[in-house]
Amino acid sequence: MTTATNETEPRHFLDVDDLSEAELLAVLDRADEYKRAVDAGDDHADLSGQTLGMLFQKASTRTRVSFETGMTQLGGHAIFLGEDDIQLGRGEPLKDTSRALSRYVDAVMARVFKHENVEVLAEYSSVPIVNGLTDDAHPCQTLADLQTIREHQDGFEDVSAAWIGDGNNVAQSFALGCALTDIDLTIATPEGYEVDGEVLERARELGGDPTVTTDPVEAATGADVIYTDVWISMGQEDERDVRMNDFEGFQVNVDLLENAPDASVMHCLPAHRGEEVTDDVIEGDRSIVFDQAENRLHAQKALLSWLLE
Ligand code: CP
Ligand code: NVA
Repeated sequence: MTTATNETEPRHFLDVDDLSEAELLAVLDRADEYKRAVDAGDDHADLSGQTLGMLFQKASTRTRVSFETGMTQLGGHAIFLGEDDIQLGRGEPLKDTSRALSRYVDAVMARVFKHENVEVLAEYSSVPIVNGLTDDAHPCQTLADLQTIREHQDGFEDVSAAWIGDGNNVAQSFALGCALTDIDLTIATPEGYEVDGEVLERARELGGDPTVTTDPVEAATGADVIYTDVWISMGQEDERDVRMNDFEGFQVNVDLLENAPDASVMHCLPAHRGEEVTDDVIEGDRSIVFDQAENRLHAQKALLSWLLE
C-alpha cells in the first residue's frame, strides 16, 4: 500500500522483457529456492502482512489458485476481485480502480482482455502491477515455463524449443523468454496466426533469433521441447469454426513427436484434447505439463517477493 505522500515508482511486470536477463535469472533462482522450501516444509514468510489484489476479467484455475496460495505461503494475503464483483463491472474507470486499489494493497495481479488495460493499471498505480494474462501476453506463464525447462534440460545451454500452433499470448511471452535465456526457438503457425512482428523484433533486440515457419514438422525436428496451446483462446469463441479448419495439421500427436525423439511436451493448460494435442501425448511420459502448472506457484512467489522487496 502507498499513500499520496509516499510516491516511488513501482516496478511492473507487464511482459517478460520488463526484466533484464540478470533479473530474470535471479527470479528463477529464487523460484527454485521457494520450491525447495515448500518441499522441505521450511518457513518462508517473506511477504508477511502484505496483500495482493487479484483482478480477473477472464476465467482461471492455475493463475488464481497459484497466486492466492503463494501469498498465503509467503505469510501474506490475496483478495479475489472478479470484474463483476467490483465497481469496474458497473463502469468505474480502470484508472480510478487502479488508484483506489493502490491505497489498500501492496501489488495487483490482473487478468484482462486488452493488453492496454494492464498498461492503464500500471500508469495509475503506485504499487506493482503483474500481468496475469492479456490477449497479447502471459509472462507469468513464461516464468514457470523457463523454470520447468531449466529443471528438465539441466540448464538453458543448447536447448531448442518448438512452438506449434497459435502465435498467441502464451507464444509471444515465451518468445521473449527464450530470447533472454538463449533458447533456440522455432515457431510454427498457420498463415495469419503468426507471432506479432513487433514481438519478434523485441525478441531480436534481446539477442534472440526465432525462426518462423508454417511447417510444424520443420519446427519439431530435433527439438528438446515441444510447446503448444489452445487454438481458440478466451474471447475467440466466435472464431471456432474458422480456427478449427485453419489449424488442421498443427496438432501435437505421436506422429509429430517421431520427429523429436527426446522432446518433452509442454502446454500451459487448460488443454483441449483432440484439438491442439492428443490425450495420449498429454498423458504420456514425455509430458511435463503438470510440472509447468506447479512451477506457476514457485515462480510467481519469487516474482512477487522480488518486486516487493
Ligand atoms: N495457464 C493458465 O494461465 O491457466 P489458467 O487459465 O487456469 O489460469
Ligand atoms: N491462450 C490461452 C491461454 C490460457 C491460459 C487463452 O488466452 O485463453
